Amino acid sequence: MRWIVLIALVGCGSGSKPVVETPPPVVSNEAPPAPASAVAPAPLIEAGAKIFVEQGCIACHSIDGTPKIGSTMADLWGETVTLLDGTTHVVDAAYIRSALVEPSRYVRPGFPTGAMPSYVGQLTDEDMDALAAYIQSLDDVSSP
Ligand code: HEC
Repeated sequence: MRWIVLIALVGCGSGSKPVVETPPPVVSNEAPPAPASAVAPAPLIEAGAKIFVEQGCIACHSIDGTPKIGSTMADLWGETVTLLDGTTHVVDAAYIRSALVEPSRYVRPGFPTGAMPSYVGQLTDEDMDALAAYIQSLDDVSSP
């Protein structure tokens, strides 16, 4: 009987003052938001490069600065382009996406209208992001 009381008391005493707990480490799976000018992650660029070949973009768009049926994708990113309809656009991911969805509107002077097929239903949002990342990676390839 004496022992039980003692144990109860000890139990009470240690329970009132909790042992100092170390806070759990802050684990975050989310990468910090990248600034707009940041280089896209390598796997995304690689995926874009693959899609660029698989979807036949390469047949009409070079990546080395030479124009083909369509304009070159080299050094296109970040440029301000003037289209056949007179509108000007800064080339970014949104621009590339629009060109893939409505290619007949995104034609530069000197190139044929209606040559590029629409990729609606052909490419997922992720595919388009990957293509944009790839085209971004081709910025400044022909200038040292
Ligand atoms: C059959 C040929 C053809 C194919 C295939 C093609 N394009 Fe095009 N594309 C064109 C032509 C022609 C234009 C209009 C001329 C121009 O401005 O390049 C154009 C326009 C564009 C533009 C806007 C052009 C600019 O100069 O600002 C982008 C971006 C583009 N294409 C990306 C792509 C991507 C990415 C693919 C593959 C998913 C693709 N194209 C497939 C022929 C093609």
